[in-house]
Amino acid sequence: STTQEEEDVLPPKDFVAALPVREGWSEPLVQYKNYWFRPRLLEQILLVQHAFVPRADDIILATQPKCGTTWLKALAFTIANRSRYGFSDHPLRTRHPQHVVPFIEIPGAGPNHTDIHTLPPPRLLATHMPMSLLPPGTRSVGCRVVYLCRDPKDALVSRLHFENKAFQGTNLSMDNAFSMFCEGFSPYGPFWDHCLGYWRESIARPDNILFLKYEEIKSDPVPVVRKLAKFLGIPLTEEEESSGVAQEVVKLCSFETLTSLQVNQVGGVRHGDKFFLSNSVFYRKGEVGDWANHMSHVMGEELDRIVQQKLEGSGLVF
Ligand code: A3P
Repeated sequence: STTQEEEDVLPPKDFVAALPVREGWSEPLVQYKNYWFRPRLLEQILLVQHAFVPRADDIILATQPKCGTTWLKALAFTIANRSRYGFSDHPLRTRHPQHVVPFIEIPGAGPNHTDIHTLPPPRLLATHMPMSLLPPGTRSVGCRVVYLCRDPKDALVSRLHFENKAFQGTNLSMDNAFSMFCEGFSPYGPFWDHCLGYWRESIARPDNILFLKYEEIKSDPVPVVRKLAKFLGIPLTEEEESSGVAQEVVKLCSFETLTSLQVNQVGGVRHGDKFFLSNSVFYRKGEVGDWANHMSHVMGEELDRIVQQKLEGSGLVF
């Protein structure tokens, strides 16, 4: 096992190479401080621990992948920039939501990607890092964080499809993915610990952490837009309320609108020789409860039971 000392002196690449590793997903994952990561991404996470300089007015969109990151990026970007762009010639009509809000720990890979260093304040940033690994400065300077989570059954089904689509040569079965996920072994997992970290922080510091669920946005998006705008410090004005701005935001960021745009249908970014991230891979069904079409009821109940047990007493329920 590795020590703090080794972490401090070894180059991230060598440190990561010495961590516990386990195979099963599209590539082996390494375990670091309770969580499982793709090695290359963990290297980036370790690098930004020191390199990232948070600003007090930064807004961080935090998720586990497949919980609705793309949707949250679109919504937050549209809300934050609504005084700058009209809905008809909006940047999201020609740019992918993933590309307009950069990740703290994932370098932009295409010419259309917003560069974190040239973003005007207040910066809108994204991350998949667990709460416990957010660079410590983000907390001390008081960055606001929006966390979005999702029913783990749907997140797992979404993950399985993503792995098989994005990583050439991967052909994971539902059964396999299910048992790994239930053990807490999944990218950025254990799934429940990632959620719990942000959940507890949102209770401790409600002014700084807004906790959202995919299902909540899906069933009634307009109040979420209001809540987001307020949290970002730019609440909807009476005039905006009466002219239906929240509804416009919801419509522009809807699964239907986004998937109808060419930018979300074609093109993509190559990472290495195995991994091609097509723009369309971030959209599949965009529904609540699709898990039932991919796993048995018994499996669903089993995962529910595991998650309930892990979340017990926290007040967080799915
Ligand atoms: P499904 O695979 O269940 O369809 P992420 O952006 O975190 O990678 O999450 C991807 C999931 O969010 C996919 O779920 C995708 O279809 C869904 N999604 C993407 N854009 C969406 C939108 N505008 N509205 C609702 N769901 C969306």
